Amino acid sequence: MSNRTLIRGGLVVTAADEMHADVLVEDGRIAALAAHNSPVSQGWTAARAIDATNRYVIPGGVDAHTHMELPFGGTFASDSFETGTRAAAWGGTTTIVDFAVQTVGRALREGLDAWYAKADGNCAIDYGFHMILSDVNEQSLKEMDLLVEEGITSFKLFMAYPGVFYSDDGQILRAMQRSAVNGGLIMMHAENGIAIDVLVEQALARGETDPRYHGEVRKVLLEAEATHRAIQLARVAGAPLYVVHVSAEEAVAELAVARDKGLPVFGETCPQYLFLSTDNLAEPDFEGAKYVCSTPLRPREHQAALWRGLRSNDLQVVSTDHCPFCFTGQKELGRGDFSKIPNGLPGVENRMDLLHQAVVDGHITRRRWIEIACATPARMFGLYPKKGTIAPGADADVVIYDPHAEQTLSVRTHHMNVDYSAYEGRRITGRVETVLSRGEVVIDQRTFTGRAGHGVYTPRSTCQYLDH
Ligand code: URP
Ligand code: ZN
Ligand code: ZN
Repeated sequence: MSNRTLIRGGLVVTAADEMHADVLVEDGRIAALAAHNSPVSQGWTAARAIDATNRYVIPGGVDAHTHMELPFGGTFASDSFETGTRAAAWGGTTTIVDFAVQTVGRALREGLDAWYAKADGNCAIDYGFHMILSDVNEQSLKEMDLLVEEGITSFKLFMAYPGVFYSDDGQILRAMQRSAVNGGLIMMHAENGIAIDVLVEQALARGETDPRYHGEVRKVLLEAEATHRAIQLARVAGAPLYVVHVSAEEAVAELAVARDKGLPVFGETCPQYLFLSTDNLAEPDFEGAKYVCSTPLRPREHQAALWRGLRSNDLQVVSTDHCPFCFTGQKELGRGDFSKIPNGLPGVENRMDLLHQAVVDGHITRRRWIEIACATPARMFGLYPKKGTIAPGADADVVIYDPHAEQTLSVRTHHMNVDYSAYEGRRITGRVETVLSRGEVVIDQRTFTGRAGHGVYTPRSTCQYLDH
């Protein structure tokens, strides 16, 4: 009884269902659901009751693409695992999958252990890791198998950033061949980085140094071409493929063609591509630097194709690619040379709200909101049904969401450790009220009651989405 919580009277929304139900939580898990005020739920007793009348009761968000403390562009992403996961909880996300990084010339094991150490004891919510492969060679290919067994079941490769994370086509093919055997999922940063670097050099030589040129040199065609190439390499290898941070209509079209052929090819987009555009990159006085990320923001005409892709399931997941850098002292490293602006945007706290706004605006349904933000990322990365749903046996990662509250996103009120909001002044209908992580209340009616160290490392099985 003392470890039981009863959530009464809310509309329980999962990817599959909506029902007015009472939810019983016991020992950190969902113990049972029953129709609201039914004889069954009236018989339940609990130490704590949460009144969810006029609220949604939804699974905690699963953000499958974050970069806490990422070393990048001569600096580090400004959210630590402590500040970033606390902000995630504020925004209704209860699981992140972050990226451990292999240093060129070093073992995967070394990079992974470093990331375990960064996160251990510091997280407010549960977390897992993908592994960034920066140096595909015989040794790292062998290590992939061991990592899959250990619960690191996805590997990011970069067709961009030559000299940093870049892999050539031969390395990509080898890693894909290995994943076809060991069950790992290759996640691809699909931009032709070799061609982009030529265009960067030419732009700078012409004196085009402002942030908006970041968007101009990283051309739509070079995202589409890399997406196409990645898909063909995956076909040759017989491996599934997950393309990260898809931003261009033409890249969605490549995914759609592949999926129409029945290929196991999946795509993720991010709130910044759905809600922001090259207009932001062109903001004067170097303010555009706040919006520098890769793939870059696109002209707003691309947004319709991204929403369409999310509706048609040519895109399956919305993650944040949360990679915050402060404007002062970090984004400013690129004054006078856009190529030196650290790439990345903050957003881990904003994703669930922005996607609820998309429900209000009619872009997606309520259940699709939960599918793309909770259930499918959990399935894609081997966390389902522990995460991503509300069902008996699942972890009690639950958000009580007020769909009628009004809020304005702002740096003044957010909890991310970054000195600006990419969505400053944006009005949102809907707000997180209370959050449970494995049954513990970590946000209690908009007060943080969690703690660093509550969140635990969560090993993952291989992709559970391959039959979709
Ligand atoms: O601009 C971005 N996306 N920064 C984070 C690294 C990556 O490529 O995902
Ligand atoms: Zn990337
Ligand atoms: Zn990323």
